[in-house]
Amino acid sequence: MKIAVIGFGTVGSGVVEVFYKNRDKIENKAGCELDVKYIVDIRDLSASPYADKWTKDFNDVLNDPEVGVVVETMGGINPAYDFSKRSLLAGKHVVTSNKELVAAHGAEFIAIAKEKNVNYLFEASVGGGIPLLHPLYQCLGAGDVTAVAGILNGTTNFIMTRMIEDGMSFEDALKLAQDNGFAERNPAADVEGHDACRKIAILTSLVYGKHVYPDEVHTEGITEIKAADVAAASAAGCAIKLIGRVEKTDNGLVAMVAPSVLKKTSPLGNISDVYNGVLVRGSDLGDVMFYGKGAGKAPTASAVLSDVIDAVSAGGNIRKLGWVDAAHDTLIDYRNDNTAVMIRVAACDKEKAVELFGCEKEIEGVEDYAFFTPVLNGYKLEELKEKAKEQGVELLCALRVLDY
Ligand code: HSE
Repeated sequence: MKIAVIGFGTVGSGVVEVFYKNRDKIENKAGCELDVKYIVDIRDLSASPYADKWTKDFNDVLNDPEVGVVVETMGGINPAYDFSKRSLLAGKHVVTSNKELVAAHGAEFIAIAKEKNVNYLFEASVGGGIPLLHPLYQCLGAGDVTAVAGILNGTTNFIMTRMIEDGMSFEDALKLAQDNGFAERNPAADVEGHDACRKIAILTSLVYGKHVYPDEVHTEGITEIKAADVAAASAAGCAIKLIGRVEKTDNGLVAMVAPSVLKKTSPLGNISDVYNGVLVRGSDLGDVMFYGKGAGKAPTASAVLSDVIDAVSAGGNIRKLGWVDAAHDTLIDYRNDNTAVMIRVAACDKEKAVELFGCEKEIEGVEDYAFFTPVLNGYKLEELKEKAKEQGVELLCALRVLDY
C-alpha cells in the first residue's frame, strides 16, 4: 500500500524520515509492504532527497488507487479540510496531526470515515508522541471519567519552566522556544491558549462522546503572567502552569484553559520543559497519568506512523475511536467550577482584599502581598473581582488553584 504525505513541514518531513528509518519494523507491524509515493507541498522540494515523490497537485494523490493512506500534516483548516474530506470520500484512510482541523471538523470526518469504511485517526493531534487518545478511548471507556486535566502545550510549558527555574522574561523564553522549533508559526496560538483549547476540546469530545467545539471552551493564555506571580507561587511551593481541563460538576461539564496554580510536587505541577502530561480522574479508577514529549518532529511523527500502522493493519475494520456531532450544549458555563484562588495585590490593598475574598493562607516572603482564598464558586469570584474594582483594589493576579 502507498502513503501520501500532504504538507512537508516539521511533522510531515519527520514522518517521511522516521518511516524510512524504521521501515522494516513498520511494515512488520502493518502486515504489508508500505512506501511513501507522494509528498504534496506547494513549496519547491526539487532539492530535497525525496524530490522524486514531490508533487504540487493533490489530485495526483486522489486519483491514484495505489494510495491507501493520506497523512495530512499541513496544519490549519484550509486546504486541509478539503483534502481530508476528498480523501475520505475516495475511500482512503486519513491520518493527521492537525489539532485545529480535528477540533473544528472531527465529528464530520469521523462520520464520513465510518460511512466509507476507512479510518480517520488523529493520535498525534494531542500530546504529540504520547499514546493518549487510543488508551483513553479503549481502556477508560468503562468507568466514569470525572475530570481530565493536562499540560497540553509544550511551548507554554517550556516558557513557564524557564520563567520558574531561570527567572527568564516571557519574551526571551518564547524566543528560545521558537528557536527550538516547538512554537507554532504564529506564537499566539500557543501563548494565548488556543492550541491547548483545541486539544482539551478534542479530549472532551473523545471522553464524553459528543463534539465540543473550541469556541465553547473558556480560554486564557499566559501572556499576562508576571515574574512576581511566578515568585509568589514559588514561595508557597507551587508552580503556575497552563492547564486545560474538563470536570464533571453537580450541574454538568465545565471546561477551560487557564494559567493555574499547582503544588510543585503534584503530578502536573512537576512537569517541566516541553513535556506534556494528562491526568485522567475516574470514579473507579482514581488518577491515571499520561506523560511524554508533547511536541517536536520525531515524537509527533512517531504517533502519526503508529496511526498509519493502525489504519492499515485494521484489515478492513474501522476503528471505533471517535464521537458524534452535537449542538453547542455539551458544556455548561465555566463559572460553575469551584476552586481556591491565589491573589496578589499591592501591600496597601492587603486589608481590603482579605476582607473581600477571605484569606485561607498568607504567602510569606513575597514583595507585595499574596494569599490563597477559600474555595470559591466561579460566579462568586467574578462578583468579588467586580467589587474589588469598585473599591479601587487592583488585583495583580487572581489564579485558580488546582489539585492535579
Ligand atoms: N505548538 C504545540 C506545542 C506543538 O507547543 O505543544 C504541538 O502540538
